[in-house]
Amino acid sequence: MSAERTGPILVTGAAGQLGGVGRTVVDLLLARGLPVRALVRREDERATALRAAGAEVMVGDLLEPADVYRAVRGTRRVYFGMSVSPEYLEATVTMAAVARELGVDALVNMSQMTVSEMSVHDTTPSRQQRQHWLGEQALAWSSLPVVTIRPTIFLESFLTLAAAGVRDRGRIELPFGAGKTNPVAAADVARVVAELLADPSPHLGRVYELTGPGSQDMHGFAREASDALNREVTYADIPPEAFEAGLRRAGLPEHVAQHVVTMGELHRAGRYDRLADGVGRVTGLPAMGVREFVSLHADEFGGRRS
Ligand SMILES: NC(=O)c1ccc[n+]([C@@H]2O[C@H](COP(=O)([O-])OP(=O)(O)OC[C@H]3O[C@@H](n4cnc5c(N)ncnc54)[C@H](OP(=O)(O)O)[C@@H]3O)[C@@H](O)[C@H]2O)c1
Repeated sequence: MSAERTGPILVTGAAGQLGGVGRTVVDLLLARGLPVRALVRREDERATALRAAGAEVMVGDLLEPADVYRAVRGTRRVYFGMSVSPEYLEATVTMAAVARELGVDALVNMSQMTVSEMSVHDTTPSRQQRQHWLGEQALAWSSLPVVTIRPTIFLESFLTLAAAGVRDRGRIELPFGAGKTNPVAAADVARVVAELLADPSPHLGRVYELTGPGSQDMHGFAREASDALNREVTYADIPPEAFEAGLRRAGLPEHVAQHVVTMGELHRAGRYDRLADGVGRVTGLPAMGVREFVSLHADEFGGRRS
């Protein structure tokens, strides 16, 4: 269908913070020549940059139904994602209510891979994961044309959680024990979302689980980081209590800290040992691995030895 008939594609959470999926999706859609409406929470330099890139920028709060209505009106395809926050479910249901009222052709919903293993009888302590689990159900009840993406932990989260240890002590310090993990790059998640938005029809009703190319324990992860940085990086399994204390010292909001602590516990229990082919199936290209990611972010990990 032509852009004139579909209107711009709405991308929420477009300014970007941790993974910045929305921000990258905007760039990818614009690069395809598709018109984009970018919803941001505030008018700042990130909004200016989005405008300069060619997006129509709208400022609004995903918790305000009137703002969401303004953002969705005139669009037919929507990416819904926002930063981890206590009101995530409220925002999801607000989006669903608005999308039902206005009618959309596709709603690409950001979720989490943990949801694949959750049920009424088997949940996790993370309020964020519970909200994604409930949000997916609310969207199913809505009968909207939804495509769900369930990424595992982002490689960017390792940047946030482990870069300082690698930089200062040559150690990845995490409480993951012998648990294996297979993180996915937010850039790959964004490539999947852009593909789904560009041509949603074949994907409606589907759920895509997204991981990296191979699951390994943190010693394997450290070896790949060593290769990328050309210096020794090791893994230090730290006690979960020390990890949690560090998050509290860093002043993370309670909701985020509780979510990250849960991710640590689930890693330790082997629950992130997953391999899924969503990135390849949707984009036709392989997912980025640890070595490539660390190479791309070498400076943040303390630089590469020549
Ligand atoms: N990080 C991981 O390891 C991981 C793994 C799997 C799934 N996920 C999921 O990925 C999503 C986060 O994606 P991301 O990392 O790409 O997001 P992000 O870059 O952290 O944040 C996206 C944007 O959401 C905006 N936002 C927050 N609350 C808002 C509100 N009430 N109204 C309007 N905008 C609001 C933020 O605006 P400001 O910057 O202005 O505050 C931010 O720029 C979450 O659903 C999370 O559960 C994350």
